[in-house]
Amino acid sequence: MQLLHRFYAYTILLLAVFLYSCIKEEDKDIIVDKGYSGLFRPQVHFSSKYNWINDPNGLVYYEGEYHLFFQHNPFGSGWGYMSWGHAVSTDLIHWKQLNVALKPDALGDIFSGCVVIDKNNTAGFGKDAMIAIYTSAGSSQHQSIAFSTDKGRSFIKYRNNPVLSNPGRPDFRDPKVFWYEPVKQWIMSLATGQTISFYQSPDLKVWTKLSEFGSGIGAHGGVWECPDLFPLKFEDETKWILLVSINPGAPNGGSGTQYFIGEFNGVTFIADPYSYPLWLDYGKDNYAGITWDNIPEEDGRRIQIAWMNNWEYAGAIPTYSSGGNASRGGMTLPRALSLVKNEQGNFSINNEVVSEINAFGSAWTTLYNGVLSSDEKSFSIPDSPGAYHLQLTTSLSDNQILTLSWVNDNNDQSQIKINVPENQIVFDRRESGKVSFSNYFPGVFSCPFDFETDSITLDVYVDQSSIEIIVNDGVRSITNQVFPQSIYNKLNLSLNTGSGFSSLKYRRFNSIW
Ligand code: FRU
Repeated sequence: MQLLHRFYAYTILLLAVFLYSCIKEEDKDIIVDKGYSGLFRPQVHFSSKYNWINDPNGLVYYEGEYHLFFQHNPFGSGWGYMSWGHAVSTDLIHWKQLNVALKPDALGDIFSGCVVIDKNNTAGFGKDAMIAIYTSAGSSQHQSIAFSTDKGRSFIKYRNNPVLSNPGRPDFRDPKVFWYEPVKQWIMSLATGQTISFYQSPDLKVWTKLSEFGSGIGAHGGVWECPDLFPLKFEDETKWILLVSINPGAPNGGSGTQYFIGEFNGVTFIADPYSYPLWLDYGKDNYAGITWDNIPEEDGRRIQIAWMNNWEYAGAIPTYSSGGNASRGGMTLPRALSLVKNEQGNFSINNEVVSEINAFGSAWTTLYNGVLSSDEKSFSIPDSPGAYHLQLTTSLSDNQILTLSWVNDNNDQSQIKINVPENQIVFDRRESGKVSFSNYFPGVFSCPFDFETDSITLDVYVDQSSIEIIVNDGVRSITNQVFPQSIYNKLNLSLNTGSGFSSLKYRRFNSIW
């Protein structure tokens, strides 16, 4: 009898092992990951169901879908075995994660890159083929291509990869390609150390070097990565923008994104004389951002998304779920980049959250509308939701500092100070919750802001592990991660001196998952 029991037990065990081995690698990880409800799991931002992610890759819009490929380790919560993960969205807010799109091969890991739609079948993979151009990172870095004719659901690597071999440079990566109609060529921007090199190709297979930009201009505190060159219009003027991520060397330390404004003549990028570096964001966590290709002309926006992290501590941040395949790292909210011109005629980039987010907010609730004085005002955050949007508009005078503090029942707090006398907005996350995983994480980070306007509006997007601040409709953006040990459920407002009019509105976002 006992023998029979043992026989049954072994059979059941063998059956379980057999069934588990039939599950695809990716799905095994999903079983370990308990879904999207963990304490730090972003509720309105993209994160992977499981494991590590870094840079957004291959951003392209095609037949109603925004594709978001991303640097991904399908086997663990740390950087490694770099592959391209894949997610799609029809509204830029809700994401559906698909199978891993590109995995390492004999040429190396699959580092960052882009995707284009080959409308004229220049490469011969078919009209409208979706073509990925990425860095093969083995003992050195080369550029390779792969194509898909099923809307990115599967890719075939080109048999003659690499298409652009390394001429002997230690850093030779992150191709971003667009079709340049005036000369009917593909143009590639490539990160080459502390410069960006431009190449051209008629067919994505044969590449010729055009020029190199960057020596002696901009920030050079670290290696340049993830370039993106594109035109932006202001009324009837067109300017070319070159985004360049840099690591380290950002204004608040570690990784950050600088940009250049100028002209592109098909061969060379010539920067206009601005006082570089210009920074796209003044938080610690906005890196490797690139923009979507092939956005329909009638939309016309330049939409960007970035990795909401910093190489200083990316491998140490708390995970969003537990277990061996815990999810680590997420993206910023998608942003619309536009060109603005000030009274002196100087251009800068405006960086706003895409308007699609509005469709998913609850109705606004007014929390306050009146004159603030120096006694602290406290507001409880209704429903203690995972993600919400606060909008503060305030008029301050020259000697005033307005402090907003988010607190929770564990006494964690994140602070924003609008500091008029020092012309800056400061974010303090020293006591924001879990901070001790890296010495680089806690800190006070400042963003210069010229208080020449009568009032200032902050749109603050709070998620379970991030606070994104958009100042005056995108004049500044400040993106930071925070890991409060329970959700912040109170907001305190205090003025250092005098009084000032303020209004404070709130709306909730339901989880996108
Ligand atoms: C930027 C980066 C890229 C590289 C990728 C590797 O964060 O270092 O330059 O392609 O990450 O994962």
